[in-house]
Amino acid sequence: TILVLDFGSQYSHLITRRLREFNVYAEMLPCTQKISELTWKPKGVILSGGPYSVYDKDAPHVDHDVFKLDVPILGICYGMQELAWINGRGVARGEHREYGHATIHVKDSDNKLFHGIDNFQVWMSHGDKLNDLPTGFKTIATTDNSPYAAIAHEKENIWGIQFHPEVTHTTKGKQLLRNFAIDICQADQKWNMKNFIHTEIERIRTLVGEHGEVIGAVSGGVDSTVAAKLMKEAIGDRFHAILVDNGVMRLNECAEVKKTLSDGLGINLTVIDAADEFLSKLKGVTDPEKKRKIIGNTFIHIFEREAARIQPKAGGEIEYLLQGTLYPDVIESISFKGPSQTIKTHHNVGGLLEDMKLKLIEPLRELFKDEVRALGELMGIPHDLVWRHPFPGPGIAIRILGEVTPEQIKIARHADHIYIEEIKKAGIYDKISQAFACLLPVKSVGVMGDQRTYEQVIALRAIETSDFMTADWYIFDAAFLKNVAKRIVNEVDGVARVVYDITSKPPATVEWE
Ligand code: XMP
Repeated sequence: TILVLDFGSQYSHLITRRLREFNVYAEMLPCTQKISELTWKPKGVILSGGPYSVYDKDAPHVDHDVFKLDVPILGICYGMQELAWINGRGVARGEHREYGHATIHVKDSDNKLFHGIDNFQVWMSHGDKLNDLPTGFKTIATTDNSPYAAIAHEKENIWGIQFHPEVTHTTKGKQLLRNFAIDICQADQKWNMKNFIHTEIERIRTLVGEHGEVIGAVSGGVDSTVAAKLMKEAIGDRFHAILVDNGVMRLNECAEVKKTLSDGLGINLTVIDAADEFLSKLKGVTDPEKKRKIIGNTFIHIFEREAARIQPKAGGEIEYLLQGTLYPDVIESISFKGPSQTIKTHHNVGGLLEDMKLKLIEPLRELFKDEVRALGELMGIPHDLVWRHPFPGPGIAIRILGEVTPEQIKIARHADHIYIEEIKKAGIYDKISQAFACLLPVKSVGVMGDQRTYEQVIALRAIETSDFMTADWYIFDAAFLKNVAKRIVNEVDGVARVVYDITSKPPATVEWE
């Protein structure tokens, strides 16, 4: 395992991601981690970049015991300046930021870090830079702008680079990280999905014991399904999955999820039909945040009530609550956010734990989304489910603008169903990150046959994004949109007009509410 100490750079998590791409396991911890409190010994340490200057009064500094580990160390950007700072010389306060591409000139292609890589393009993003070599170091690469773009203390096995190898703009960055992890640190290349399944199942069995029981909510999304399947493989029917039908899922969704999870994957599933309960609470509510709160709270209430009714299978007690937390959520809660570090809670169903006195079990907490999908495929979860677009917890309640009534749900569901069906038929579902129909609370005039109509508007949304923080609207063929609009107006009672949303995020959000 390689230890990545995070100094708060927006790229830090990509370091662990890249290392895993060549099967080296890496774990990220905040830069304030006390080395004496580590429960495992890393094969090497990477100090990430960060937004600070080592001269800042409250700049974070690494525990000096890191040098006592006697393993190779690589400092990236701030990490390199930190090494020079500890060394006592070499860091110059940046006069202006350097941001963008630069060409690296490798001075010594024999050195292990640049083995097999020559002059290449890198991504620079820094304020301070080195103006002198720290004692014992030599220069191994330069750019036109920095004479110390990469430095090495070969005897101590300490390396520093000014650029970011973890971003894809750095063309040979992955090879460089590979050289560090495999050639320099001699890390094992044993991390892969098959091993992951095996060790995770063993870990769950040990944790839960022979009689322990676990409950968890499933939604039909990829994360909760993969987590549930892992639990089923580990402890069989002692895992109790609960699917709450909140009345605002998509057309036929509840029945389909039930079929896939229960019949297909053999998961011990209880479906709770709570549609009426949710809808009565949503009556008269139009404010989006109120809708979210009502749905979230009602969900917790129903889940707790139903969980209390579950009969343990092995006579033991229900001790654990399963959550499909992913690595990005974990990173969000552990990454270094500065001296006044704020820890964000990452529980999707926050509130459940305190009340229910359950311990948390999170089998996916080491994985990125694409790794969860790979795991899902490997565990025999149907392709359509593995690659499903994300669907918000409050469901179509936040896609029906204004009050959520059974009539409005019927219209919104039907229009959305036609839209998604056409997207799948056109073979573009996997190219789109998320697509859905919104029902607007405005009426517009239309004409059908010889009749004047006066009915509602459907807005179609489709976006492409890698992280949902920013998104671009998807460019459909005009013929595709023409066909979808025609079908919706003809087939869905209550809709007289269809529009396509051509706003990116920002300034708009993905959802309309
Ligand atoms: P926005 O609308 O914030 O959406 O740009 C970004 C992503 O988050 C999803 N989303 C939600 N998911 N509960 C959820 O579970 C919510 O309340 C919620 N609001 C938005 C949205 O579908 C998109 O994928």
